[in-house]
Amino acid sequence: MRRTLAAGNWKMNGTPEMLADLATLTGGASDNAPQIIICPPAPLLTRAADATENGPVEIGGQDCHTNAKGAHTGDVAATMLKNAGASAVIVGHSERRADHAETNAQVRAKAEAAYAADLTAIICIGESEEERLGPDCLDIIAAQLDGSTPDGATADNTVIAYEPIWAIGTGRVPTMEQIIETHDMLRTKLTARFGDTGAQMRILYGGSVKPTNAAEIFKAENVDGALVGGASLKASDFQPIIDALAAS
Ligand code: 13P
Repeated sequence: MRRTLAAGNWKMNGTPEMLADLATLTGGASDNAPQIIICPPAPLLTRAADATENGPVEIGGQDCHTNAKGAHTGDVAATMLKNAGASAVIVGHSERRADHAETNAQVRAKAEAAYAADLTAIICIGESEEERLGPDCLDIIAAQLDGSTPDGATADNTVIAYEPIWAIGTGRVPTMEQIIETHDMLRTKLTARFGDTGAQMRILYGGSVKPTNAAEIFKAENVDGALVGGASLKASDFQPIIDALAAS
């Protein structure tokens, strides 16, 4: 049984005042309680960790450098995230791939840096709209998965997040057929490459997940949760998504 995961990516949003709201999030009491991880901007990590210290919410980073330390102005090492209270880090988000020209090889090296710091790597992949409309969409996503996932990936240290770029922040989501087809393909690839641990690796869907569409998306067998942007900023939006996951 794969434990479901509701992950929130705050991107470049968040104030200290928003952190108290985080502490109210709950996975519920059932055996089905989802894991909850919120990824605020790096300067808020320690405060977020303090605010959620006594509850179920875990904290994650949004990116890490490939190196453990050194002359990299403005960057953050995985161990620093760990020391700030994080248990996970997002790597390879499409916004970082676009804004900072990150390649699959760099994303893979970042995931390895996360493992070395004892952080779970949430590895993001996903196609552009043009790629979705072309004939090779699934092959393109599969190549991203292969190139971005280290050989040392296991169900304990890695989560895959499938986020179609055209669905992020747009209110548009793929059809259920497209979500199912893509996640099933990812599961097949992970199991072929990693065996049992690939079968147990969580695969999240991300892109315009809202309280109104979450339950439908979570019906898909190989959707193990969501990576949520805008709707993770307020507990009143994120809690219903967590509840839908608990009920799935
Ligand atoms: P939205 O949920 O705002 O579409 O963002 C998704 C995302 O990019 C999460 O990483």
